[in-house]
Amino acid sequence: MHRLGKRLVRPLQQLFQSKQSLSRSSPISPLAFRKELVAFNSVAVENDIDNRQLHVKWDDGTTSRFPHIYLRDNCQCPNCFHPSAKQRNISDTSVLDAYDVDTKASQAQLHPDRQEIEIKWDKDNHVSVFDTNWLKMRRFPTDRDQVGHKIVYSDRRLWGGDLNGDIPTTDFNEILHDDLALYKWLKNLARVGLTLVKNVPKEVGQVERLADRIAYLRVTNYGRTFTVKSKLDPSNLAFTDKGLALHTDLPYFDLVPGIQFLHCVQQAAGGGGENQFVDGFNVAEVLRKENPYYFDLLTQHAFVFFDIGNDYVEYNQLNHHPLITLNSRNEVIRFVHNNHARSSILDVPEDKVTDIYRAFRAIVHIMYDQSNLVTNKMESGEMVVFDNWRVLHGRSPFQLTAGGNRHLEGCFIDWDETTSRMRAIEEKQKMQNFTGVI
Ligand code: OGA
Ligand code: ZN
Ligand code: ZN
Repeated sequence: MHRLGKRLVRPLQQLFQSKQSLSRSSPISPLAFRKELVAFNSVAVENDIDNRQLHVKWDDGTTSRFPHIYLRDNCQCPNCFHPSAKQRNISDTSVLDAYDVDTKASQAQLHPDRQEIEIKWDKDNHVSVFDTNWLKMRRFPTDRDQVGHKIVYSDRRLWGGDLNGDIPTTDFNEILHDDLALYKWLKNLARVGLTLVKNVPKEVGQVERLADRIAYLRVTNYGRTFTVKSKLDPSNLAFTDKGLALHTDLPYFDLVPGIQFLHCVQQAAGGGGENQFVDGFNVAEVLRKENPYYFDLLTQHAFVFFDIGNDYVEYNQLNHHPLITLNSRNEVIRFVHNNHARSSILDVPEDKVTDIYRAFRAIVHIMYDQSNLVTNKMESGEMVVFDNWRVLHGRSPFQLTAGGNRHLEGCFIDWDETTSRMRAIEEKQKMQNFTGVI
């Protein structure tokens, strides 16, 4: 919990005490208190009993309203919220018993010395104490577009060809040994979706070392890690010397792996083997503007994807996703596209089929617009790490030469583990923008 320094607190405390001494000598009746504003620590509190809500005025002049039921629900006393488990102790059935939407706090008082608001509940005389900063972090957004809390990392930078030669780049050893460097790298991954790691040893095992720095990698039907080499009888088109169209990986999973690592152990000695990258979120926004009807179609109808074969295990993967997934704020949160793995099963109404193709062609057209394309040829000892829920990647064909086989090693990790790690670092480093509030 953040506390203001003594220097700031004292004068405000005096202000509070003058009012408080009044209330101490003659305890405030609920009615009288309701209309009284008490300033403390740049905060004023008014208990609006009629409307069952507490008004808290912050130092920036804004006021937040906390419905009584919300405060009762989130009482932080050790009976209601287990201190070491950090979990709500009130079960669903006791929710029904302990309070209802008419739950009422007849008293609300600021403590002069503890920067806290004490609330007494009518029904059972239960007492809740809230830290004002704790409450401030939980104020409700005043309109729908305003993000009150960054539950996920939402400060994205959309890009097109402007990222050519400007892909956020980090040193492998710095990430391995310095938590702040690790954090900055992950922040770029969350904001931009595409990063380059340099000075990686030219031997296998490095993708797992980096994934372990975050948390643990995601095992798939291609193993803990996978080898991208031109092979006889490949289990995937990636394991040939052919080019790969722009795609996102493993669309046939329900939980599509969130982040992909590709480490270039050895680049093709001859020509080819470059990678192409496109920002799927940017592409989606272009389509949203150009043709809202096509955009809606691609959010409302799913494509089916499959993968059948034998690699790390024998597998028959099958799943479906809309090309564009939106959250409750209509923001794009996932882009899934893989023409190589798209099924001939098209689970849409007959009368929509042709329009789906129109919409599909429109978005593919934007995807391949030269101005949206970023090209990068990894050198041996470089690694690309990118958001597999957002960034499309492709590959140019390459020539096999006597100089040696092109060899990449890849792996996946999920966003949940990654954002968790970021919040843990933010908390440990006491960063200002810590978003991991509970
Ligand atoms: C893959 C892939 C690209 C490459 O393995 O998923 O897209 O450069 N590889 O080989
Ligand atoms: Zn409680
Ligand atoms: Zn791929």
